[in-house]
Amino acid sequence: MVAARITVNGRETPISPAAPHTTVLDFLRERGLTGTKEGCAEGECGACSVLVARPGVHSPTDWVAVNACLVPVAALDGQEVVTSEGLATGGGATPVALHPVQQEMAVRGGSQCGYCTPGFICSMAAEYYRPDRCAHAGSEAASAETAEAAETDAEHGPNGFDLHALSGNLCRCTGYRPIRDAAFAVGAPAEDDALARRREQSPPEPAATAYAQDDAEFLRPATLAEATALLRERPGAVVVAGSTDWGVEVNIRSRREGCVIAVDRLPELRVLRTASDHIEIGAAQTLTEIERRLDGDVPLLAQLFPQFASRLIRNSATLGGNLGTGSPIGDSPPVLLALEASLVLADADGEREVPLADYFTGYRQSVRRPGELIRAVRIPLPLSPVTAFHKIAKRRFDDISSVAVAFALDIADGTVRKARIGLGGVAATPIRALAAEAALEGRPWTAETVEAAARILRAQGTPMNDHRASAEYRSAMLGQSLLKLYAQTTEAVSS
Ligand code: FES
Ligand code: FES
Repeated sequence: MVAARITVNGRETPISPAAPHTTVLDFLRERGLTGTKEGCAEGECGACSVLVARPGVHSPTDWVAVNACLVPVAALDGQEVVTSEGLATGGGATPVALHPVQQEMAVRGGSQCGYCTPGFICSMAAEYYRPDRCAHAGSEAASAETAEAAETDAEHGPNGFDLHALSGNLCRCTGYRPIRDAAFAVGAPAEDDALARRREQSPPEPAATAYAQDDAEFLRPATLAEATALLRERPGAVVVAGSTDWGVEVNIRSRREGCVIAVDRLPELRVLRTASDHIEIGAAQTLTEIERRLDGDVPLLAQLFPQFASRLIRNSATLGGNLGTGSPIGDSPPVLLALEASLVLADADGEREVPLADYFTGYRQSVRRPGELIRAVRIPLPLSPVTAFHKIAKRRFDDISSVAVAFALDIADGTVRKARIGLGGVAATPIRALAAEAALEGRPWTAETVEAAARILRAQGTPMNDHRASAEYRSAMLGQSLLKLYAQTTEAVSS
């Protein structure tokens, strides 16, 4: 077996003697690459952002920005990483000039104390190299078209730059306007840009990692069969995909495990296919990949993604991970409950399909057995046409919900034929609002029906008081969500 190694700014470096729980952030800083900063160590500030070469959506390779504080360096065995130091060199070893993104940040006053700046630069560079953005930035006609759209969409620049790319980066002293100015000023990469050209080649294959150090192991099986056999052998192993949850446990709660198994590159967990009666999404597709690959085909998911953490987190987080942790305030379960999704669970004996409505059994508990993996999520077709996802949180983006509500309604000839409502944050598990669904189904979609169902919806679940919200507020928001949906649908009809 080849010794574990990682390519950083074009230079191959052995991972040993780092401990298996060592993060990419600590690994880089211990080797002198101190441009990568630690702000929070829990995925909320973006000071640690770096670029990783990953399988692309619109090109063979995408440069993807991730939180280096959350990813174990062993998870990047065989992979290519570029830091803010490497950007100035086009990924090589010798600094030649500022990268165009660095140049725009410098001339537009996008940095004061500079602590957040390398992280902003890496997140901005990932968006700079996004192939479908470059198509906008590189064509005059497209730029004019996008400039027109930009008047009604403050989150996209005339160069196609999507500000959500920076939603996981915090700056405490400069203020965001000069940073936004820099983002909206970058053009398309030059013909000879080495990182742009790198996108045309395949990304590194996932390595068959068996990394052991200090009595702990980090293992990356090559197939689902290998993974499930390994899990049967080591039932206590921790399974990780993007490490966005596990990385926080390691950093903040000092969790250490004897064995960690990575499943994020298993081909069987990376499918995304549409059959006549369902869409199957591999549990290890990242949220960004799903968002870009589906491209709005499941409107309720399209409403969910911008509200799910930040782009940096969505670049690593997976649906399998969000469902596997069993959190009652995960963002995806209310949406998937409303979509009547089911989970394909796999172990060494085979597969079984479980409706998501039957999956959660208690606080962070589920019917998933020891040794079982979530292989895929299936969403039945056809989709109900009236959908909405309302996440009530203190901040618009990159926050944890106080309560979340997802609706999927089928309304024909003014009558509600079918209603599915998923709730998060009002019980020990995500739940379906069965009584409110029954109060809508078969009834006319009128203010009277909706007000009666909203009263029932307010009483669903057993919301609690905590530092995010009171129980009364959570209940009130459930009812308001349905009233808001009604107002939106009637506005759409009358306009
Ligand atoms: Fe804050 Fe990594 S250090 S996101
Ligand atoms: Fe100081 Fe952003 S420049 S935190």
